Amino acid sequence: MSKINFLDLGSQPMANNYLKSQKPDDEYFYNLNAVFDDEKKLVSLSEFVPPEMMFNETYAYRASMSLTMQDANKKFSKKIKSKFNPKKILEIGSNDGAFLKNFKNSTVIGVEPCKNLAKITNSMNILTHDKFWNTLLSKTILNESGQFDLIYSANTISHIHDLDDTFNAVDKVLDNNGIFVLEDPSLLEIIKNVSYDQFYDEHAYVFSVSAINNLLKLTNLEIFDVEKTTTHGGSNRIFIKKKSNNMGILDSVKLTLSEEEKFGINNFETYQKFSEKVKYSKKKLLDIFDKIKKNNNQIIGYGATAKSSTVLNYCGINTDFIDYFIDTTESKQGKFTPGTHIPIIKPDEKIGSHINFAYLGAWNFKKEIFNKEKDYLSRGGKFITHVPFPQII
Ligand code: TYD
Repeated sequence: MSKINFLDLGSQPMANNYLKSQKPDDEYFYNLNAVFDDEKKLVSLSEFVPPEMMFNETYAYRASMSLTMQDANKKFSKKIKSKFNPKKILEIGSNDGAFLKNFKNSTVIGVEPCKNLAKITNSMNILTHDKFWNTLLSKTILNESGQFDLIYSANTISHIHDLDDTFNAVDKVLDNNGIFVLEDPSLLEIIKNVSYDQFYDEHAYVFSVSAINNLLKLTNLEIFDVEKTTTHGGSNRIFIKKKSNNMGILDSVKLTLSEEEKFGINNFETYQKFSEKVKYSKKKLLDIFDKIKKNNNQIIGYGATAKSSTVLNYCGINTDFIDYFIDTTESKQGKFTPGTHIPIIKPDEKIGSHINFAYLGAWNFKKEIFNKEKDYLSRGGKFITHVPFPQII
């Protein structure tokens, strides 16, 4: 058997399934285990949650919720325009239009299976197919709109279970001289930061550049450039072209592959060591929470992220530890965290003066949050984080 289990994060709920009731009677749980495919060098979950259960009209995540992401989308759109000057752009997983709204409506098309989100972009006059990305949909799009010279997909391809079909579908609608940009959290950074919270139901795969490179060997596509971004705690932006397009392959590809190889991304032992670090991280985080609670301090959560759902459920951090989460996403407010049932509320202007500890669920926006919470920090308020190791900041 080529798939080997290396990480057991226990029974977990769907990470973006914010609950209407604190005592739900029908919450769905699955076993969150990560496996390493020794042939493809690919990391995935051992059990996939059916896509229709995760991506539907109640999907809560909004890509344009933070200034950091708005800024990143603006910058990258500008770069795309000046570097590639695409005439027609397709985005797979267009969410609320955070990326596409930076382009002229007539030249862009979105694909977004969450109907509540597709509705938003359709109302912005961005033609959006509220369907899952697959070969069938690619044929429809090809018939209706022809081929595209740029296909962008951020934080989506890692969510799709059938990767062969996904790349096939991309190949169908990509112009012969077109470019496919795939962006997803970097497995290398996840291992370095012990950010095991990137493992949850939606992230069916956690990609290394090496794994994508291996997967593409069986397709008409190949990587020609790689960029590292700081998004979601460290992501890879992978530029892909058709093999028939004789545009040169940049040194960044060789460099990234060799950096990953040297780090041990292709060796099972790396994942065994990572798993040990995850167990230690849980112990240390619980020590911190226990100590604060023993001193009768209140703790709140800051940013009810999907990522934090993995941490809370794996570590057993529930309402005994965290009174409530504050989160700027409207659709999460008034609801409860999946599995751990912690209330989520709208942030007030400031964190209340009686609060001295906040668990940083949205650690990937640490800079933006620390900037916003200068007053809290200067009066001695502390943040608790588990990345890259559990600590009080
Ligand atoms: P995010 O880190 O994008 O992702 P994921 O759910 O994929 O793990 O989610 C960030 C959440 O944090 C989002 O719900 C908005 C919230 N947030 C705040 O509440 N305040 C802030 O200042 C920022 C930057 C984010």
